[in-house]
Amino acid sequence: MVKTSAPPKKKAAYTTTVFMKRLMAWSGIIFIVYLLLHAYGNTHYFQGEIAYDHYAVWLRTLLEPLLPYGGMLWILRVVLVALLLAHVISAFHLWFRNRKARGTDKYEVKKPGADYFASRYAMRTMRWGGVILLLFIIWHILQFTTLTLTPGGEYVHGRAYANMYYGFQLWWVYLIYLVALTALCLHVWHGVWSALQTLGATRGNTIPLIRLIAFIVAFGLFLVFMSVPTAILFGWVDAPMAAADYYPQFCDAIGSASEQFAHCAAY
Ligand code: HEM
Repeated sequence: MVKTSAPPKKKAAYTTTVFMKRLMAWSGIIFIVYLLLHAYGNTHYFQGEIAYDHYAVWLRTLLEPLLPYGGMLWILRVVLVALLLAHVISAFHLWFRNRKARGTDKYEVKKPGADYFASRYAMRTMRWGGVILLLFIIWHILQFTTLTLTPGGEYVHGRAYANMYYGFQLWWVYLIYLVALTALCLHVWHGVWSALQTLGATRGNTIPLIRLIAFIVAFGLFLVFMSVPTAILFGWVDAPMAAADYYPQFCDAIGSASEQFAHCAAY
């Protein structure tokens, strides 16, 4: 009789796991590239209100007239949602597979060495960190994109500088970002290391370098992202201008894009 099913099934499961690990690694890496650009973009805040809001408009006029106003931003949003889905689905897949493989955890106490605890700790931090980040992204979009939640003042579409300024006057909004950015930092620190390991970059002498890269990327993101809320909370940046002073300067700075802003028609 011909033997059939068992080996191919195992092979398929192995292939899916390898695919999911790579999917998680690549989606995570591309996400980090986005975050590095986002963190760099936020530093325009220190150039003042007009410069920062001009930068927000520039993001929407990219590749015009090939794309309509805001087209590039929509492409970015679709890519980010796809990446997030890929990252979360692969995380769930690997988590379920791990649980199934470990069964009732009957092997858990067999190797309670330092490495074992370190990896269990990292895994837990990754999971909880991931959940905190998901909740944060929802909060963040409701606060700064849809302007559904407007703590600290009356937010206005297009006045990104002022919206951020109002929000970070409040210590609890600052705290939300501090917690989320701490979670992000730990997530990225372990994530960069894991991703590069999955992709085969950790071989003998490259390990110290990879550890250094993971550390610099994670803590760099934390420091750059937190610099703006911290400067706002401690009053190190100028308050937003009154509408009558702001719109003439803003509308002038953004040129033809001013057609997109009803306020500019009045000036
Ligand atoms: C202190 C940290 C941060 C600040 C002050 C900040 C600020 C902002 C602001 C003002 C916008 C709207 C920009 C605009 O409409 O032109 C924005 C968009 C966005 N931020 Fe952040 N951000 C921070 C951290 C993060 C982090 C850690 C993530 C992801 C984990 C993130 C993800 C996003 C996304 C996905 C958008 C685009 C939303 C959209 O318009 O569709 N941000 N951020």
